[in-house]
Amino acid sequence: MKISVVGGGYVGLVSSVCFAELGHTVNLIEIDADKAESINSAKSPIYEIGLEDLLLVHARRNLHACDNYDGIQDSDISFICVGTPQGDDGCADLSMIASASRSIGSALGDHDRYHVVVVKSTVPPGTTESLVIPSILKHSGKKSESIGFAMSPEFLREGTAVKDFMNPDRIVIGSRDNGAGDLIEAVYKGLDAPVIRTSIVSAEMIKYASNSFLAAKISFSNEMGNICKKMGIDVYDVMKGVGMDYRISPHFLNAGAGFGGSCFSKDVTALIHLAENLGEDPVLLRSVMEINDRQPLRIIKLLEARIGDLQARKIAVLGLAFKNNTDDVRESRAISVISELKSRGAVVVAYDPRANSSMQRLLPDIEYCRSAAEALTSADACLVMTEWPEFRELDREFELMKSRVIIEGRRILSCRDVEGICW
Ligand code: UGA
Repeated sequence: MKISVVGGGYVGLVSSVCFAELGHTVNLIEIDADKAESINSAKSPIYEIGLEDLLLVHARRNLHACDNYDGIQDSDISFICVGTPQGDDGCADLSMIASASRSIGSALGDHDRYHVVVVKSTVPPGTTESLVIPSILKHSGKKSESIGFAMSPEFLREGTAVKDFMNPDRIVIGSRDNGAGDLIEAVYKGLDAPVIRTSIVSAEMIKYASNSFLAAKISFSNEMGNICKKMGIDVYDVMKGVGMDYRISPHFLNAGAGFGGSCFSKDVTALIHLAENLGEDPVLLRSVMEINDRQPLRIIKLLEARIGDLQARKIAVLGLAFKNNTDDVRESRAISVISELKSRGAVVVAYDPRANSSMQRLLPDIEYCRSAAEALTSADACLVMTEWPEFRELDREFELMKSRVIIEGRRILSCRDVEGICW
C-alpha cells in the first residue's frame, strides 16, 4: 500500500520505518528539510534501538522523506503523527494537528481516489471529529464520502519502540465507516495482534486511559514504597507478590523516583483538564500527578538526612535520561533533583551514557563527565536517577568518592551500602 506519514518525530519515524518493513511504500512528510535529508541518508535523528538498522534497509528504497505534502496525492492512506505537547494551560497544544490537517486537506483537493486519513498522534477525545475532519473537508473542498477518517493510537515505548511496533499487544482502530477501518487493518496485516474496532472518540480515549492507568500503577507503587520504607519492608518483594495476581500483572510496579518522559505527565494532565472542563473532579488523576511531583524531592530529603547542609557539597548525579536506552531527558526526574540540589548550593557533577548533551542544552551550568568514575571522584554523595544497565556493574568506582553515600532513585545497583529512595 502507498502510505503517507505526516511528522518525522518519534512516532512518525518509527511508524514509517516499520510500515516500510511490513512491505508498504512510505512517503514521510517532515517539514524540517535537514531532518528529512538525514532520514533519507539512513541517519536517524533520534536514538532508538534497531531504528537505524531498518533505515539502512529501507531509506531511499521504499521509504522516502520529503519536506512537502505533494506525495499525499499518490497515497492511499495518510497517518497524522505530529506532536501534541502540553500547552501553557495544561491542555494539549493542538496547533500542529491543526496545521497538518490544513495541509493534508489542501493536498487532497486534486486527489480523485478514495483516501483515508488516520490520526495516530495522542489527541484529547473529540479532536478528530471536531478539528481534523472539518478542517480536511474544508481545505480539500470534498464531501465526507470521498475521504475516510479514523483514529489509531500508538502504544510505543521509547527505547523499545521498534520492537513494540512489530509486536503490539493490540491494534486499536476507531473509524467512522467500515471501509476506512478495513483499510487500516490491511496496513497492519502481518502483525500478530488482536484488533479492536471502536468509534473514533473511544480510540482517542483508550490512549489517554491506558497512559493514565500505567502512570497510576507507578504512583501506587511509589506510595506503597514510601510506606514500606518507614516500616523496613522491601517494596520490591511486596510488589512482586502483588503483581503475580493476573488481574494486576507484574509490569509498571517498579517503585522509584517517579515517571518521566514526554507522555505520562502530559497525558494525565490533559485528561485532568478535560475532566474539569466537563465539570468532573478527577481526584485519582490529580493524586497520581501529586505523588509523582513529590517523589524526587524525597531523594533530596534522604540526602540531607545523611550529609546535612548541601551548600558547596559535591553531588554526583548518575543518569539523566528519563529512562534507560534513550537520550531523551523530557520530564526526567533528574531535572527536578538537579534543580533542588542547585537551589541548595550543591556542586552538581553529572554523567549519563547517552543523555549528557540533551541535558546540557537544558541545564548548561553543571559539570558533565565522560564516565561514572569521573563524576564520582571526590564526591560527597551520589544519586542514581536512571536504570542504565552499566550502573549495575559499578562497585570499585564508589571508592573514588570522598564519602560513600549512595542513594538510588531506581533499583539498579548491586553493590553494598546503597540506600533506595523507597526501599
Ligand atoms: C509510555 C507508554 O508506556 C507507552 O505505551 C506509550 O505509547 C508512550 O508513553 C506514549 O504515549 O507515547 P514511554 O514514556 O516511552 O512510554 O516510557 P515508559 O517505559 O512507559 O516509562 C515512563 C516512565 O515511567 C519512565 O520514567 C520509567 O522509568 C517510569 N517507570 C516505568 C517507573 O517508574 N516504574 C515502572 O514500573 C515503569
